[in-house]
Amino acid sequence: MIKKRVLTGITTTGSPHLGNYAGAIKQAVDLSQLKNQDSFYFLADYHALVKNKDPKQIENSCLEIAATWLALGLNPERTFFYRQSDIPEILELNWILSSVTAKGLMNRAHAYKAATDDNQVKENRDSDKGINMSLFSYPILMAADILMFKATHVPVGQDQKQHMEMVRDIAQKFNHHYGDIFIIPKPVISEESSILPGLDGRKMSKSYQNTIPLLLPSKKLRKLVMKIKTNSLEPGEPKSTEDCALFDIYKGVASKKEALAFKKKLEEGMAWGEAKEELFTYIDQLFAKPREDYLRLTQEPMHLQKLLTEGADKAREISLPYIKEIKEAVGIKSLS
Ligand code: TRP
Repeated sequence: MIKKRVLTGITTTGSPHLGNYAGAIKQAVDLSQLKNQDSFYFLADYHALVKNKDPKQIENSCLEIAATWLALGLNPERTFFYRQSDIPEILELNWILSSVTAKGLMNRAHAYKAATDDNQVKENRDSDKGINMSLFSYPILMAADILMFKATHVPVGQDQKQHMEMVRDIAQKFNHHYGDIFIIPKPVISEESSILPGLDGRKMSKSYQNTIPLLLPSKKLRKLVMKIKTNSLEPGEPKSTEDCALFDIYKGVASKKEALAFKKKLEEGMAWGEAKEELFTYIDQLFAKPREDYLRLTQEPMHLQKLLTEGADKAREISLPYIKEIKEAVGIKSLS
C-alpha cells in the first residue's frame, strides 16, 4: 500500500474568492491536518500565464494567494507548499506527456471548446481566434503537476472534473506504452464543494467578475453581499432555496446544520435584506482571524519567499530523481 498523497494547485490569477474557498481551499486545508498522508499544495503560476499577461498582476497574485492559504490554516511544515515555477521538472514532464497525448483529447477540453464555440457564434471568425497554445494544452500541464509527485488524491472543484479524467487518461496511456511509471490519481470532489454562484447568479468566476474576494475588509464585504441578486419577493413571503444564489453561497461556507436553519428561515419568509445581513455576518466572522493573519503575511514578503523556497527544495527531493526515472523510461538517458 502506498501512502495517500493529496495534491492540489491554485491558479495565481486575481484574488482568491469564496468560490475557490468552498471549491478547493477549505477541503485542502482540512485534509492537510490529517497525519496519515502527505499533502502537496502549490501555486500554479504557469497556469496563470494562460490568461494573464500582466507581469505585475502575476507577481502580486502569487504573493496574495500564498498569504491566503497560510492565513486559512495551511501548515507549511506539515505540507509541501511550493510554487510550480520553482520546480523545472514539471515543465520537462509537460513535454514528455505532450508527446503521448492525443490532440483529439485536448480538442474536447471544456475551456478550449467554450472558447472556440464562442468564436464560431460570432460570424466570420476563425474558431481559434485569440486562443493560445497554453489554453489548448492546459490539461497536460495539470497532468504534469499531479503525476510529478505521484499524487493519489486530488481535491478539486466540480469544474475540474473533466480535466481530471484527462489526467488519468494521459497517465494510463503513458503506462500502457512505457510501463508502470505513473500512479493514476483520483479526483476528490466533495458534495459540499459545489460550484458556488456569484453575485449575478452565474458560476462565481474571475472571468465573470462576479466574485466575492476572500478576506475583504468588513465594509467592502458587506457592500458586495448586498449586491447578490435576489428576486422581488416581499418580506414575509416564503422564499424557495432552489436557484437561489444567496442560499447557495451561504451553504458553501456554512455547516450542513447552519444551512438547514437558514433554509427554514427563508421558507418562513425572512426578508432578503435580513438574509443578506445574516450571510454578511457569517462570512465576516468566519474570516476575522484569517484576515488579520493575511494582512501580517502580505507585509512580510521575505518570510513568504523563504517558506516557498524551502517548500520547493523539499519537493525537488522527489521530482529530481523521479524525472530521471521517467526520462529513462522513454529512452532519454546517459549514453554510457
Ligand atoms: N486548473 C486548476 C484550477 O484552475 C488549478 C490546477 C493546476 C490544479 N494544476 C493543478 C489543481 C493540479 C489540481 C491539481 O482550479
